[in-house]
Amino acid sequence: MKRTLITSALPYANGPLHFGHIAGAFLPADAYSRFRRLMGDDVLYVCGSDEYGIAVALSAQMAKRDPKDHVDIFHAINQDLFKKIGIKFDHYSRTTSPIHTETVLEFFQELNKNGHIEPKVTEQLYSVEDDKFLADRYVLGTCPKCGYENARGDECPKCAASFESTDLKNPRSKLTGSPLSKKETKHWFLRFDKFKGELMEWISKKDWKPNVVAFAKHYIEDLHPRAITRDSNWGIPLPLKDSEGKVFYVWFDAPIGYISASKEWAQISGDSKAWEKYWLDQKTNYVQFIGKDNIPFHAIFFPAMVMGQDKPYKQVDELPANEFYNFEGKKFNKSTGWTIDLERFFTNFSADQIRYAIAANAPETSDSEFSWRDFQNKVNSDLVGKYGNFANRVLTFIQNRLGDEELKADDYDEVDQTFLADIERLSVDIEKAYNSFKLRHASQLVMQLATLGNVYFDQKKPWVLVKELETKPQLIATLACCLHCLKVLAMVSSPIIPTAALEIWGMLGLPKALDKINFRDEVEVINSEQMKLKKPKILFSKVEDSVIQNELDLLEKANIEPIKEKLEPLKELIAFDDFQKLDLRVGKILEAVKVPKSKKLLKLKIDIGLEERTIVSGIASNFPDPSVLEGQKAIIVANLKPAKLMGIESQGMLLSAGDTILELPKLESSSLGATVR
Ligand code: MF3
Ligand code: ZN
Repeated sequence: MKRTLITSALPYANGPLHFGHIAGAFLPADAYSRFRRLMGDDVLYVCGSDEYGIAVALSAQMAKRDPKDHVDIFHAINQDLFKKIGIKFDHYSRTTSPIHTETVLEFFQELNKNGHIEPKVTEQLYSVEDDKFLADRYVLGTCPKCGYENARGDECPKCAASFESTDLKNPRSKLTGSPLSKKETKHWFLRFDKFKGELMEWISKKDWKPNVVAFAKHYIEDLHPRAITRDSNWGIPLPLKDSEGKVFYVWFDAPIGYISASKEWAQISGDSKAWEKYWLDQKTNYVQFIGKDNIPFHAIFFPAMVMGQDKPYKQVDELPANEFYNFEGKKFNKSTGWTIDLERFFTNFSADQIRYAIAANAPETSDSEFSWRDFQNKVNSDLVGKYGNFANRVLTFIQNRLGDEELKADDYDEVDQTFLADIERLSVDIEKAYNSFKLRHASQLVMQLATLGNVYFDQKKPWVLVKELETKPQLIATLACCLHCLKVLAMVSSPIIPTAALEIWGMLGLPKALDKINFRDEVEVINSEQMKLKKPKILFSKVEDSVIQNELDLLEKANIEPIKEKLEPLKELIAFDDFQKLDLRVGKILEAVKVPKSKKLLKLKIDIGLEERTIVSGIASNFPDPSVLEGQKAIIVANLKPAKLMGIESQGMLLSAGDTILELPKLESSSLGATVR
């Protein structure tokens, strides 16, 4: 039997999950695990809450809660949400569990024993008042490059310079404002650089998405030792003599959670060694579902940690890294209300409806989005119009016209045979789609199967065949084919819409339960005579316009009432003369490329009519593909004194708002270089 181990990235327990998480790492994994079980694999699907780390501690502090209370709350909330949306883990653990601590310590000890850990003394910012070292995100200070007073611990929002927090002038605590001083502290580094060769060889053999492999290779070339410890009291303490106040960095402990969750599952299931057959047997197929922001940790750091162990832990075989999932054209944003409240969602809609809408639009190859209109359309036209309709018309027809009569066909005509062959062909395609993590394609094919059934039903016209005694054999053959199609439809749709699939299965009254059958066996036999059909019920109801309009109205409110306290206070008034000093120009972006080694900066070539300018702008994170800017017109400040950023002279500044550059809509190309007034 094939053995498959499946994990989804452990979500932080510092807030409720949102659709982006579900679409990126959970629904695809859940559907895949359901599918592999249908194929007869021995599957273990585990996950858990990621509960340590500075971000969690900070969020607890803001909520004025003890971190453990904080994670208890969100661990419970998220578990409940998973249940509501039908994400079925074999076990959902948490990183604050004792077995996780034990496993992390074992991992560390072994890396240490094998010579992969090195302590190093460095200078860090220390708060005398709080008697502790502060992590970058707790630190503010004056930018060493431009003098801006509110620079963050590792970067300046004003000039986009990035630096070490110890380079800040007048560093102070973000929370209390008290001054910070430099103090020596010891941290433990993992020698990732020692795994370069082995990692490179390993990753070169993967046929993962080309962008994932290319990204990872690039990263590996530049691998260096990284600190795996932090100064904090929220985390797993280091087990060494001189390591007081140090805990493991959350990204060191969290991925080990995949193993500890499996161990905990084994303990609960009564055979505490049961996890080993998944993790220590090289024949296991291990699939990790993650969002694209987690690639380095899963393709490089965790694999290196595994390479440094004596136990032959299974390395990841497949890494479906999903893209981002947006909402009505923008990023989900809880604080501005640009989001869907999952609790409210489940009072208005069903899990299958949302699962289908997400699957049909899954962010596999590019970012995708949820929109309310699309949701309504997917439900009404696909789930109600195609899928539900086919099940309902077949079962209602049989019940009304034939009652309990046994449906055993002797002979299939040409149309029947073509239909059966099409079902077989589609089932093979659907299998392939699931196996290659193409959930979106799989859902399209599932709907094609429903459409195929509807077309066949219309073509065979059973309501005519039922009228004459001599067409009775044809009628029986037609209905047997329809029931077969419905059976296959229930199976192939069950990974995506498990509740509806189970209802169809129940209405068909098949002898074996849906979770006890083997997919291929069932596709091959037509067994309508074994079915004990039940009274048909409606699977999906329509989503009305008024319900969608209500959601859109709520959103519009969120759009026009941005949360005011999130905005920076207004600056001092300036005189018109000062304003006039600005020379604003419209320019055309000729070229936009990332600045190597910088996450924030783009290098732009801009034609302002008079001349060509090079401008370095800190907007890279808003434009994952900067080439979309090429050809666009933008407003620039043309008389700003040139400044060097990452060694490149920037000759001006680009005006932008979030992920849109500011452009005057009606400017003709002839006005290129005009002064904007
Ligand atoms: N909590 C992380 C996030 O949400 C993911 C952790 S994945 C694991 O980005 F591998 F570390 F578990
Ligand atoms: Zn600066």
